[in-house]
Amino acid sequence: MRKYNKKGEIVVSNTNLFLDPRVIDLVNTYLTSNTDPETIVTHHLPPEELRSKIDLTLAEQGCSLDDLYVAIEQYLSFSVRTGHRQFFNQLWSGFTLPGFLGELFASLANTSMYTYEVAPVATLMEKELINKLGGICGFENPEGLFVTGGSNGNLQAMMIARNRALPRMKSEGFQDPSGLIAFVSEEAHYSFEKSTNVLGLGSNNLRKIKTDAEGRMIPKELAMAVEQGLQQGKQPFFVGATAGTTVKGAFDPLEEIAAIAKQHNLWFHVDGALGGTVILSPRHRSLLEGLDKADSFAWNAHKLMGLPLVCSILLVREKGHLLKTNSVTGADYIFHDDAFGSHDLGTMSMQCGRRVDALKLWLSWKYYGDIGYAERIDRFFELAAFAEEIVNRTPSLELMAPRSSVNICFRYLPNTSKDLNHFNLYLREELARTGKALVNYARLRENVTIRLVIANHELTREDVSLFFDNLIQTAESLDR
Ligand SMILES: Cc1ncc(COP(=O)(O)O)c(C=O)c1O
Repeated sequence: MRKYNKKGEIVVSNTNLFLDPRVIDLVNTYLTSNTDPETIVTHHLPPEELRSKIDLTLAEQGCSLDDLYVAIEQYLSFSVRTGHRQFFNQLWSGFTLPGFLGELFASLANTSMYTYEVAPVATLMEKELINKLGGICGFENPEGLFVTGGSNGNLQAMMIARNRALPRMKSEGFQDPSGLIAFVSEEAHYSFEKSTNVLGLGSNNLRKIKTDAEGRMIPKELAMAVEQGLQQGKQPFFVGATAGTTVKGAFDPLEEIAAIAKQHNLWFHVDGALGGTVILSPRHRSLLEGLDKADSFAWNAHKLMGLPLVCSILLVREKGHLLKTNSVTGADYIFHDDAFGSHDLGTMSMQCGRRVDALKLWLSWKYYGDIGYAERIDRFFELAAFAEEIVNRTPSLELMAPRSSVNICFRYLPNTSKDLNHFNLYLREELARTGKALVNYARLRENVTIRLVIANHELTREDVSLFFDNLIQTAESLDR
């Protein structure tokens, strides 16, 4: 019930914080200022300077609600505006309203995904999403879970594969040097290397396969590397293809990789953290042809589907693997052998407590439908093509890799004889320093390349043009 003070203001406590109009004001002000062209993307301050602008101290005595709001305002004001339409730094940007509501209401109901008993609706939603995604991917009898991110999805896929290759691994641990070797492309995400560390395989046993100019794994090179491994007495057990590489946005040829995996009985995993969403677009899904032959698929809905982080799925083609890999003894205090128990998802999860990340995806999908998401992906591709066009028609810009999807890799070519890498790093830094845009860079071979990523659903052609106008103007002012 609302309580009022003598001045007629709502009295706010922890349990009715949302009755305070200031909360909604904070959200609205933040979101509307994201769209104001005068708002900078980032303050880009070094830690010492930032520390001097905000109060980070934690005192013995708590603070007032007013002070709490000041702290929240400071947090928002000095955080990078990742929903700003000049934020291109990561493989995601902004979020949709249903996604935000899902995040909010998941926290409000605050449950955990381990048992059906404590998360009945969320469990059914998660299963619905797994079946829906499985159907789209062409998996007949899928299973899956929301995981803590693409890295975790890749790790768990490799873990299933390791335990399949070494059936006594789970209970006995490594008996002898295993000789297991895994394969990914040289442009695959670094989480595969981390996984070989976590899983006790050793990073030298991850063989990185050469890619073509577009950044796609070369199947012939994979076949040769597998043969070479066999000749060395190793045991090839896993191949991870990438659908949407981190830097170039390239799609490995899944059909051809699937054939090699089948020939050598390798677990065939597809890392679709970035590009997995493309499967929702009838126009572009041919990029993922062969996905139906994958044993597992990692997918980050928080990248191109406009959901607040984290929203990530590991999908497995056949039921049973997740439970076999993650089941343990001594958990009957939580997983009960009763009518509800058989619906528990926690028995096949690596985590115990697990957030309800399914809600935001379910709400979003409900709202936009298959068609809404297909249109979203198609729009991203159109905008990416538009950005590529600008690069191609501007003499001072150079495309650094053929564009496959939503990543555009390019650099600026100064008139003066400046070091190209140094100049482009400086240019990118200058855009960040002035807060005009935040865009990331990577090295392709030895060359610094600016990586523009089209991932924000609010983005327009004008925003893309503005980015290039600002970049060129800044570059010209530096090129003297
Ligand atoms: C291709 C690819 N795989 C995996 C990941 C890791 O995903 P996460 O950051 O959710 O762990 C990324 C992250 O950008 C990625 O680009």
